[in-house]
Amino acid sequence: MKTPPRFTPSSAPLMARVQGLVGESLRRVETIFAEEISSRSPYVREILDHLAGYRGKRMRPMLVLLSGQACGKVGDAHCMLAAAIEMIHTATLVHDDILDDATTRRHVATINSRWTNETSVLLGDYLFTHAFHLTSRLGDAAACRSIGRATNLVCEGEMSQIGERGNLDLSEETYLEIIEGKTAELCAVACELGARHSGASEDVCRELDGYGRDLGIAFQIADDLLDVVGNERQTGKTLGSDLEKQKLTLPIIHLLAHSEGTQAERVRDLLSRPGPQAREELLPLLVATGSLDYARTRAVEFTVSARQRLLCLPDSPARQLLDEMADFVAIRSA
Ligand code: IPE
Ligand code: IPE
Ligand code: MG
Ligand code: MG
Repeated sequence: MKTPPRFTPSSAPLMARVQGLVGESLRRVETIFAEEISSRSPYVREILDHLAGYRGKRMRPMLVLLSGQACGKVGDAHCMLAAAIEMIHTATLVHDDILDDATTRRHVATINSRWTNETSVLLGDYLFTHAFHLTSRLGDAAACRSIGRATNLVCEGEMSQIGERGNLDLSEETYLEIIEGKTAELCAVACELGARHSGASEDVCRELDGYGRDLGIAFQIADDLLDVVGNERQTGKTLGSDLEKQKLTLPIIHLLAHSEGTQAERVRDLLSRPGPQAREELLPLLVATGSLDYARTRAVEFTVSARQRLLCLPDSPARQLLDEMADFVAIRSA
């Protein structure tokens, strides 16, 4: 089995320490994941074989397990929840790659490029339904409700983003609402349920939800920066699709708000008719207006807020790793 790609070379010590603390549970998550989605259909198995080599950073399972460990003991329920949440996340990526016409994901071909959009739609559905089937096996109606609600909000976020496509007047506030839905909700529920299944109090569960939410927002702002300035070899995925699909992200929103006269006209023109040169032309403007720095600063602000939330927990190696993960997501390069 392939080892999951790391965040970046510089994150290696952090990932190694996460593995050191919850590695056994992470391996259990992999087994639960693979067993849950296994199929007797030869066609489905061919796709699942591809999926076995299609492994991401496993950040959401890490969040469930570290939150659980920071609040008490981690057990099989945490591993099942972590596998279900990773399945939902993977389903959203499989669908998202259709929307973005992406060809590479997690360093390998996307399902839509290797097979077809039809196969991707159905594989995404297959992963969603297995995630709910797996969660139902916990016999915990509240957890089913929380995961169901978070998934609703993820889908709503992705749909709102499509609805705002090409809207050059998108506000930072609406952008933040969209990314809270499409990305942060799943991180929030991962942390909240991790804590809850270790017997944490309501107050602590709320703080952990807040930690995951703030971390998720910072994570998506960093991802949106990578879409403009990142490296495809390092991230292992197709970049530039936000501009191409006219999805406005924080650096672009800032650039639009800080451009005047002919620059404003040129920026609006490039965004309205994005071509292969849009990224190259926009990049120096994004640097000159401080738009990249602005987005980086906003991401860091969310990580500071996330780290504050952890103060409700007693000091422990798990809390320390959650703290470092928050710090790390805003400055990652993969
Ligand atoms: C990608 O998430 C989608 C976003 C929310 C930005 P990850 O960067 O966690 O993807 P994998 O799981 O590591 O591939
Ligand atoms: C999608 O955001 C996040 C989801 C919830 C699916 P992006 O479109 O930015 O994710 P990437 O960059 O393709 O991973
Ligand atoms: Mg995408
Ligand atoms: Mg992206």
